[in-house]
Amino acid sequence: MRHEIIEKNGLLMAILIGALISVGGLVEITPLFFLKSTIPPLEGVRPYTALELEGRDIYIREGCYNCHSQMIRPFRAETERYGPYSKPAESMYDHPYQWGSKRTGPDLARVGKKYPDSWHVQHMEDPRSIVPESVMPRYPWLAQTELDGTFIRKKLSVMKTLGVPYTASEIETSAETLKGKTELDALIAYLQSLGTAVKRR
Ligand code: HEC
Repeated sequence: MRHEIIEKNGLLMAILIGALISVGGLVEITPLFFLKSTIPPLEGVRPYTALELEGRDIYIREGCYNCHSQMIRPFRAETERYGPYSKPAESMYDHPYQWGSKRTGPDLARVGKKYPDSWHVQHMEDPRSIVPESVMPRYPWLAQTELDGTFIRKKLSVMKTLGVPYTASEIETSAETLKGKTELDALIAYLQSLGTAVKRR
């Protein structure tokens, strides 16, 4: 029996197993090097505006991700509550993405346009004025703090090197679009953009 030779020789068996796994791995991995993108395109997905991008940075700075995920899983219980499950293209311009899994509060992947801006203004000022049993902290300073747009051009350029298609003129004029805005304006612009590419369809 020929396979007995292999079964009785540990080293030979190890070498052959290694060869088998390598071939299997290459067959799976090699095609990926020839694909331009593994993300199926999704109509309506666009990069964040300068204001939304600043809002996203405030979201990260304030640690909102410690209580909120941004990823709707493809299960009935999730889609009934939050809407269509998250598609890969929806976070293709997120560096880093904010999927998360901690849900002390609800998932925010489709919170955009769910409420008017005024709702968010009040909710950020004092969540308990809207949801009495809420454990979300208050963020009253955001409305009083003027947005610091010093680094916005740099931020957009960095995003561009990561593959986000900002044009030169968008980067050039970005600082102007932030004039007179507060941190709360930016955060709400960001929240209102979440998940809207799919919602619009
Ligand atoms: C300690 C946990 C916690 C933190 C931190 C937190 N939240 Fe919340 N959030 C909640 C809870 C709980 C709710 C549900 C009750 C409510 O609406 O207040 C909620 C609700 C929300 C809602 C409404 C969602 C919906 O679909 O009704 C938004 C929007 C929101 N949070 C945004 C934020 C943002 C932005 C930050 C960061 C600045 C943040 N949250 C930080 C716990 C948190």
